[in-house]
This record gives sequence, structure tokens and C-alpha cells, in this order.
Amino acid sequence: MRNSGLNVTARTSIHHPTEPDQEGPGPEIRPLAYGDLPLVISIERRSFGSPWSVGMFALEMSKPDTIGLAAVDAGRVVGYLVLSRFDRAWHLMNVATAPEQRRRGIASRLIREAFGLIAGDEPVTLEVRPTNRSAIGLYERLGFRSFGLRRGYYPDNGEDALIMWKGDPEAAGVPAESIGEIPAGI
Ligand SMILES: CC(C)(COP(=O)(O)OP(=O)(O)OC[C@H]1O[C@@H](n2cnc3c(N)ncnc32)[C@H](O)[C@@H]1OP(=O)(O)O)[C@@H](O)C(=O)NCCC(=O)NCCS
Repeated sequence: MRNSGLNVTARTSIHHPTEPDQEGPGPEIRPLAYGDLPLVISIERRSFGSPWSVGMFALEMSKPDTIGLAAVDAGRVVGYLVLSRFDRAWHLMNVATAPEQRRRGIASRLIREAFGLIAGDEPVTLEVRPTNRSAIGLYERLGFRSFGLRRGYYPDNGEDALIMWKGDPEAAGVPAESIGEIPAGI
């Protein structure tokens, strides 16, 4: 997920669920709004070495096949997610939780809520740094599996990206021969 830029080939508009998530205690999950961006950027800068800018969020949110969600606790955004559709697959472009709010299930709830807004058989993919064990564990618990490496994906340090899929990459038009081996230890 996420390198320093956005895929400008995307076709999108923000898609909002009509009802907030009312399940259980914890933050409300609701559509991400442009007015959330100051707090989103504050979390973004504390979460990533190469944070998205306001413009990058605004661009992604303006596209027709983008789902943006915010987790809101006591009126404050504490987490967010951006999921965008490209051709036949959804891409988890961004997810983060405020550092002081982590390990409360917020990212899990955001991702599950977003999955509830797309068809169950639609494949979802993401890229993650192989060193981000917490995120990889979270994704595996939510049904993602590793399907190869994208070499030198992250421009800040040249780190490879681990490509993960939920569902069948071939159903999204990814040829089997392009699916790489996962080196031991990842
Ligand atoms: C990765 C990230 C989004 C996870 O957000 P989160 O809200 O903490 O996620 P969750 O709480 O749903 O799950 C994460 C962990 O908390 C644990 N957890 C969830 N609820 C818990 C609870 N009530 N008590 C204890 N642990 C809990 C999960 O089991 C998981 O454990 P792990 O870290 O040992 O693997 C967050 O760490 C983050 O913002 N990181 C920086 C940005 C980033 O790396 N984003 C992903 C890029 S690919």
C-alpha cells in the first residue's frame, strides 16, 4: 500500500455508506469528509515516513470508486481508511490509527466496514512494508494472503513491498506467472 504517490490511472468518486457503524462500543465509523483532513493529516504525519499530503487525500476522495471511512471518538478522528477500485480489484490505499489509539481494533473495524460496502467476491489487494509486522498480522487475520514482492517500491528507502490479496488475484486479471515467490522469513 501507498508509496509516495497516487496511481493517476484510477477511476473513482467517493462512495459513502448511508448508515454509520453502530456495532458495539468504541469509535463511530462513518464516511470520511474533507473537513476531517486536518486531523487525518496529523495522524498521517505521525504514522508514516512519507505521509500523504492534503491534496493526495482530496484527489483520492474525489474519485468515483473510492470508499473513505473515518473512525471518530468523542468528535475526533482517531483513524481512517481509503479503499479505491482499479479495474477489477479494490486497493487498500491507506489505513492508519492515531498512535495513542492503536490495538483497540479500530483498523480492523474500518477494514471490515469497508469490506461490507463492496461485493463479497471482489478481490482486494494492498502493498505493505515487509517490516510492518503489526499491519501484516492484522491483514492476515482479515483474510489477506501474501502473493509476492514489488521490488524497490518505497522511494524513501528503496524497500520492497509485500503484495497481499484477499480473494483470487487471477479473478482480478493478474496472470498466475506474475505472482512472485515469497522469500523465507516474510
Ligand atoms: C497498522 C495499524 C493501522 C493498525 O491499527 P490498529 O487500530 O492498532 O489495529 P487493530 O487494533 O485493529 O489491530 C492491531 C493490533 O492490535 C491488536 N488488538 C486489537 N484489539 C486489541 C485489544 N482490545 N487489546 C489488545 N490488542 C488488541 C490486534 O490483535 C493487533 O495485534 P498485533 O499488533 O500484535 O498484530 C496501526 O498500527 C497504524 O496506524 N500503523 C501506522 C500506519 C501503518 O503502518 N498503516 C498500514 C500501512 S500498510
